[in-house]
Amino acid sequence: MTEKLVEIEDLKVYFPITKGILFDRVIGHVMAVDGVSLSIGQGETYGLVGESGCGKSTLGRALLQLNPPTAGKVRLGGIELTTLPREQLRAQRKRMQMIFQDPMSSLDPRQNIESILSEGLVAHGIGANREERRALISRTLDAVGLPRWALSRYPHEFSGGQRQRIGIARALVLSPELIVADEPVSALDVSIQAQVINLLDELQTSLGLTYLVIAHDLAVVRHISDTVGVMYLGALVEEASSNDLYRRPLHPYTKALMSAVPVPDPLIEERRERILLKGDLPSPANPPSGCRFRTRCPWARERCAAERPELRLIEGHKVACHFAEELAGIAVPEGELVSRSD
Ligand SMILES: Nc1ncnc2c1ncn2[C@@H]1O[C@H](COP(=O)(O)OP(=O)(O)O)[C@@H](O)[C@H]1O
Ligand code: SF4
Ligand SMILES: [Mg+2]
Repeated sequence: MTEKLVEIEDLKVYFPITKGILFDRVIGHVMAVDGVSLSIGQGETYGLVGESGCGKSTLGRALLQLNPPTAGKVRLGGIELTTLPREQLRAQRKRMQMIFQDPMSSLDPRQNIESILSEGLVAHGIGANREERRALISRTLDAVGLPRWALSRYPHEFSGGQRQRIGIARALVLSPELIVADEPVSALDVSIQAQVINLLDELQTSLGLTYLVIAHDLAVVRHISDTVGVMYLGALVEEASSNDLYRRPLHPYTKALMSAVPVPDPLIEERRERILLKGDLPSPANPPSGCRFRTRCPWARERCAAERPELRLIEGHKVACHFAEELAGIAVPEGELVSRSD
């Protein structure tokens, strides 16, 4: 079995909601991430998908300790990060880097590329002098397919796809083990998206990187991911190997997301069953009782309001739905039937 590089256990990130004129009173919490456990094997890619606002970015940021977790554990290569003293955390930060959605807003427009890529190196004390750092940066530019003359240019002189390559180079230059790519291609033209995903894939193979790739679009993570997790309102509702998940989604929410993806074959496309989701994502400050998906689930029943479904192992998938077997036409184990009738 592959060794786990990332282990997240029952992670929670709550943001306080405050109100008041002179003194802020906490009147509630946005439960952006509410009990997520997952692990990522060394050299593997975990694809995290879900609608906008379900907590994907907050989870990614909490993994990198950019948002302090409210509760739970995060281990990187066995090292618990959430309780690590600041100095020791600094040393760990080099091992994990982030690639952002919009390279334009994450790259300082007043700095040239050499200066942008030097920042992290200087901060972590890598490279004895400017020449050494320049050599390292030049090699990194080669790796991401950018010309060396890019060194003296500014972000606005590049296309969207090239800017994302600069964003990737900025993460890569520090030789990280883990990269969190938060919607790395969402801001790019569809024609460029595949190039950037392929580049990430190639870099992973040549450098042995581990990825958490976040996307709201299921198609984006499909081919690059070993495992895919589907998030809804702060929690995972299904997790499976990429092949299993796309071949046979078991959670009603995953089915609905999949049914919204057009199929290139016109015959299949015509017969494609679409599951339309009612309403909007409920507020993570006031989630529905029981199953959080119940207000939009076409199959919701009484038990769904009373009891929050845990992730259970069903045919190799982890699924959080009381009725997953029944909905998928899988025989329900006898013990389950007994507990269901009460
Ligand atoms: N710093 C913050 N303060 C308060 N609420 C936040 C903050 N960051 C995110 N949120 C809220 O947490 C929820 C999840 O946000 P986010 O993680 O950005 O979702 P996603 O990346 O899936 O779109 C949203 O309701 C968002 O408004
Ligand atoms: S537990 Fe109930 S509401 Fe939730 S997904 Fe399953 S059937 Fe739908
Ligand atoms: Mg996000």
